[in-house]
Amino acid sequence: MYKNLKEMTDYADRLNMTVGAFNMHNLEMLPDMIRAAKEVGVPIVIQTSIDTAKYIGYDVIVAVCKQMADNNLVDVALHLDHARDFDAIKDAIEAGYSSVMFDGSNLPFKENIAKTKAVVNYAHQRGVSVEGELGTIGGTEEGISVAEDDKEYTRPKDAVTFVSETGVDALAVGIGTNHGQFKSKTNVKVSLLKEIHSVVDVPLVIHGGTGVKEEDYSELINNGIRKFNVGTELLVNWTDTAKEKFGATEVNKSLRHNIIPCNEKVKEIVKHKLTLFMNIDSSLK
Ligand code: 13P
Repeated sequence: MYKNLKEMTDYADRLNMTVGAFNMHNLEMLPDMIRAAKEVGVPIVIQTSIDTAKYIGYDVIVAVCKQMADNNLVDVALHLDHARDFDAIKDAIEAGYSSVMFDGSNLPFKENIAKTKAVVNYAHQRGVSVEGELGTIGGTEEGISVAEDDKEYTRPKDAVTFVSETGVDALAVGIGTNHGQFKSKTNVKVSLLKEIHSVVDVPLVIHGGTGVKEEDYSELINNGIRKFNVGTELLVNWTDTAKEKFGATEVNKSLRHNIIPCNEKVKEIVKHKLTLFMNIDSSLK
């Protein structure tokens, strides 16, 4: 079924697992991402940036997700990632996205609260879930951390105020992860996650999942992570496969010969991550 994020994180919470949230980078890879979830037998969150949504069309992405959710007997939520623009959030909700992120992490604390709260009011009236962000997620270029000094970790005390004032359904936390880190792995501050988890009762979200060590997954899930974002790993592998395939193919060969292997690579990664996200080895809460 087509669901919102809250329904999915409630499910994940009951089973002490995390929902996998994967950034789609083109329309080609989308069906195989959803098929991966069906094969593993777990829900999936598909997420897009505003730019990806605009390039493909919000309504086109919604149509594919809804159609596949209904026909494939798998639960799918469609989430707008890192929106800082209320108009884009309105466009996504109007088109049928079931979840949105308002990223006010660059704003002063009070303004982040006020703007996130406005998005929550708007979205909840329409049955749509909202993820907020407090603290910052670093960024990397080719595995080298940039603006490391500007990174702000989430303060547990602020998280309590933020969650109670805004009513968000999920909270993205700054605990040392970096977006776009695919050549190296980060050291996540698990002790900080534990502190945050002990004071707020809301599903927590990992951003920059590509740069997180797989051996850390279980500890993160056991400490409140209920949505785990992975984007760059899919992008890099799709592109690498495309380079290899297109580079070796005659120009008049059907595109299928090159694109199917790229999508299959993405499917393989999504299945692998979703299997780990079930947190099977860890006992139920
Ligand atoms: P990566 O692209 O680093 O995996 O991060 C994804 C993400 O957090 C999207 O918001």
